[in-house]
Amino acid sequence: MIIADHPTALRQYLAGVKQKRIALVPTMGCLHAGHISLIHKAKCLADIVVVSIYVNPLQFGANEDLDNYPRVFEDDAAICKAEGVDCVFHPHDLYPEGGAKITLKVHALDNMLCGASRSGHFDGVVTVVSILFNLVQPNIAVFGEKDWQQLAIIRRMVSDLHMPVEIIRSEIVREPDGLAMSSRNRYLSPAERQKALRLSQALYLMQNDINIGGKAINIIDVGMDNLKKHQVSPEYLEIRHALTLKPENTITSQSRIFIAAKIGNTRLIDNAALFPQTMTNEATP
Ligand code: PAJ
Repeated sequence: MIIADHPTALRQYLAGVKQKRIALVPTMGCLHAGHISLIHKAKCLADIVVVSIYVNPLQFGANEDLDNYPRVFEDDAAICKAEGVDCVFHPHDLYPEGGAKITLKVHALDNMLCGASRSGHFDGVVTVVSILFNLVQPNIAVFGEKDWQQLAIIRRMVSDLHMPVEIIRSEIVREPDGLAMSSRNRYLSPAERQKALRLSQALYLMQNDINIGGKAINIIDVGMDNLKKHQVSPEYLEIRHALTLKPENTITSQSRIFIAAKIGNTRLIDNAALFPQTMTNEATP
């Protein structure tokens, strides 16, 4: 496995594998089973797997956890090696000195859900992902459904900007008790870890209570009541169309539930299809 810590080293490596099908798995490191599932998918679909590990300052707000974001490169590199990754791209910085003067801007798709409270977050995400696409020029890139809004926005970026890369999505990997895996879970104290479980539990309760044509507000009440009972006040709990991300007042087979909540100081997100068995490919980003 090659570790490239600079775009020049990455280019040198890629020059030697030109005719091969390349998959990129972009990450911010602190790898867990969720990331590893993306690597597995990438390995199935390509000859060469490049994993990028870069904590992108541009996608963190002023009061967010950029400085504290877990950085465990030695562990990450060992995981990548064990999983058969071909190249880890771990740049010290991806922006010019003095900061980037040219960035990308997301319109409309980022004024709700996570975008509503994280101003500029998705601009930072699409900017760094487009830089990574330019550097690696992958045939495919794999992203997790855990960050559904991010996935939807990246698909739209690729389509709007005619980027020659296929976006592959990968299912959410959960702990045995249902908590969606996240690099931020390690911030949770044991008591907070128990409380964090209420997010996925609310999603499951809502899934159990639905009927097509029913009112979304009634399902949201089911989730809200349960969260309240356990002293969790979500930043949002919403039902939206899986593809357009528009709010759905009436439940359809393509409805998806989205939740974000702060547990202690840790902001967690999760989402689920309301009718997992009827989800079609066309209705997913
Ligand atoms: P990061 O949070 O490290 O996530 C990297 C990828 O792993 C994302 O596509 C994310 O959706 C996926 N992922 C995280 N937890 C997962 C889980 N439990 N199950 C399945 N997939 C999971 O997302 C980012 O980094 C950054 O925004 C990035 C795209 C790298 C741009 O900086």
